[in-house]
Amino acid sequence: MKRIQFRLNTAHQDCDTLLIGVDNSGQLIGSDSTLNSNSELTSAVSTAIADKDLSTKVGSQIMLKNLAGFTRVWFVSLGETEKLSRKAFIETMKKTISSILETGTNWLYHTLSIATQDSDAAWALYQNALMLQTAQYDYQHPSRGDFTANENNLDKVTFVGEIENAEQIIGQAQSSAIGMSLTQDLANMPANFCTPTYLASTAEDLGQQYGFTVNILERAQMEELGMGSFLSVAQGSDQPPKLICLEYKGANANDAPIALVGKGVTFDTGGISLKPGASMDEMKYDMGGAATVLGVFKALGELKPEINVVGIIPSTENMPAGNAVKPGDVVTSMSGQTIEILNTDAEGRLILCDALTYAQKTYQPKQVIDIATLTGACIIALGHHVSGIMGNNQTLVDDLLSSGNDTYDRFWQLPLGEEWDEQLKSNFADMANIGGRPGGTITAAQFLARFTKEVEWAHLDIAGTAWTSGTNKGATGRPVPALVDFLKHKAG
Ligand code: BES
Ligand code: MN
Ligand code: ZN
Repeated sequence: MKRIQFRLNTAHQDCDTLLIGVDNSGQLIGSDSTLNSNSELTSAVSTAIADKDLSTKVGSQIMLKNLAGFTRVWFVSLGETEKLSRKAFIETMKKTISSILETGTNWLYHTLSIATQDSDAAWALYQNALMLQTAQYDYQHPSRGDFTANENNLDKVTFVGEIENAEQIIGQAQSSAIGMSLTQDLANMPANFCTPTYLASTAEDLGQQYGFTVNILERAQMEELGMGSFLSVAQGSDQPPKLICLEYKGANANDAPIALVGKGVTFDTGGISLKPGASMDEMKYDMGGAATVLGVFKALGELKPEINVVGIIPSTENMPAGNAVKPGDVVTSMSGQTIEILNTDAEGRLILCDALTYAQKTYQPKQVIDIATLTGACIIALGHHVSGIMGNNQTLVDDLLSSGNDTYDRFWQLPLGEEWDEQLKSNFADMANIGGRPGGTITAAQFLARFTKEVEWAHLDIAGTAWTSGTNKGATGRPVPALVDFLKHKAG
């Protein structure tokens, strides 16, 4: 992915294109006040409005050539900015960016990092940098055949405005976008390419590139550690399972790390509890949690915050086979707790529980966050706009909620409690791996809670947010932006 060169408050003479806003009364709004009162621009916009080439409704846009020294000027209507929502701002800017990328713009002068209804100029700057960099993403795997990438001419963007910590804001946005592109590539990649072995080699590549310590555990080592739950999911697959461990050391060696644990099911058929055929192809993104961990690590490598982070990825396929685990089978997890597998399609929690135990025993993390495309019930409960969040420590959950809110990569909290935990009762083991249909997202988290009693823990269910179905089918790169923000705050 091409990296945009972001500049701050440099002279606009070198920029070929101007992006400027128009309010509900037809006045120019932007963070360069000289341009807002430039007579060439003001008269051009008045004429465009009078001739009905531009409306003052939010989202209306027009490009006019050769004005005020710019080859192209994009006027974008933002209505009353005090009433402009964050959603409307993002949607409008995305549409404008895609229009700009269709033209020959090379160096954009961007004056729209401005305050809106419930956000300030710093927030707009972050979103603008994130949107511009993510707009460069394109899935370009060789398996697409002779597909040509939609290349564009944009190399540089100059932002204007007096914004505190602007450099850091832009750096965080750009690193997040670069991390997201890896997350998207991995989740978009067909499961015959993106295997557990491929995820492991991706982690090793990241280790080489950024200096992370990477350790890959094979089946034999996992057997020795007693990961009977994880290995029961893997036993029906011809692809060897991997437990992928990465360490990013940005702080003192004796600073306890934050552990990120990501579900890495590279394809989820449901196993013997086979899924229906419709849209089953999309189960290649059941490693979205793993892809998030790798994307966050890429962002950490770029951003280098002063914090220690470990990433733990249990990875396997979930396949039906003659030797596959069966409903009713009982397995022993690494923690010693036994599990009756009533549905082989509830496999995510079976691989995560052993990874959570391993993470705590090996790294003594101060906080653990797992990220998983865990339940279809989460999509039913929350839709595709927010990820589900649950946890055993409200301060941790609140910190994640606030990073989600700030980056607009949002979470919504669901409750945990004994009532839901009781749904996991089994007659034949310490617990069952399913709790029935009611509260399916919560009972999945309750299952994980039984393996994280001794640590501050939060669980992110990203089944609805990691992927877009329909004509724009593909990975979103979420929740990389929120997690990067969380880790950056933790670094102080
Ligand atoms: N990977 C699925 C969850 C999922 C569904 C993610 C749709 C993304 C989109 C998970 O392994 C699963 O199959 N969960 C079951 C749990 C059930 C058997 C208790 C589900 O949601 O139906
Ligand atoms: Mn499943
Ligand atoms: Zn799954």
